[in-house]
Amino acid sequence: MPPYDAIASQYKAINDRIRPFRENVESPSFQRVVGDVRGLSVLDVACGDGWYSRRLARAGARVIGVDISAEMVREAERQTTDGDLDIEYRVGDAAALGIAEKFPLITAAYLLHYAATRDDLAALCRGLRARLDDGGRLVTLVLNPHFDPRGPSTAAYGLELRTTGETGDGALTRLHVDLEPPVTIDAYRWRQDTYEAELENAGFVSTNWTPLTCSQDAAGTTPDGYWDDYLANPTAVALECVA
Ligand SMILES: C[S@@+](CC[C@H](N)C(=O)[O-])C[C@H]1O[C@@H](n2cnc3c(N)ncnc32)[C@H](O)[C@@H]1O
Repeated sequence: MPPYDAIASQYKAINDRIRPFRENVESPSFQRVVGDVRGLSVLDVACGDGWYSRRLARAGARVIGVDISAEMVREAERQTTDGDLDIEYRVGDAAALGIAEKFPLITAAYLLHYAATRDDLAALCRGLRARLDDGGRLVTLVLNPHFDPRGPSTAAYGLELRTTGETGDGALTRLHVDLEPPVTIDAYRWRQDTYEAELENAGFVSTNWTPLTCSQDAAGTTPDGYWDDYLANPTAVALECVA
């Protein structure tokens, strides 16, 4: 069973717990890198409960959301209550997407760091590249390769990366969400140059890393300095790759 089948029913609670982070920091940062999607067909891989699929569709895209977990796809369908949004959800593996169409834009927030081995990472990169037009873009969020386990803590925001003692490339790292009981999700922290090498091997011609920042709107709704610890040692980073 894909690991996310087991936590699909908790995913709404996870998103509710970390909603301030997702809405004030992560999503505006990600959507700035994604840019204007009006009139575009977008493949949202690892769509999960449809967090970004719905945002992309509201911004004017036609969206196909794909996830390996049938339970997450069911959750996405359940949460997508606005019938005017142009979204179709499917079950599928990013490494072998059974879709003939190619896209100008693929989004894949929080996918690549589930690759447990370098071969898995290479297969994901190849699978995504295969579904992109030449010159198309992949925009993703990955665990921050430069996260410092001794740096400022992100616990106050409801999420933490807990290292497991492994220190090498692809080290097992646990994303801990502060719920009762806590939810822990295993992921793998690949080095920046490893991502870049596998993306290049898969046929991507350039990669561009963009740190998450606090949106201007959020700056007005949270006390000065509220996000400082997060931004000083972020758990995630946005990555844009051109095919
Ligand atoms: C943390 S969730 C992110 C969901 C969504 N993108 C978001 O930002 O809320 C990660 C998702 O990746 C999916 N996933 C993991 N490996 C996958 C693969 N090989 N192909 C497609 N989806 C995958 C999981 O099932 C899960 O729904």
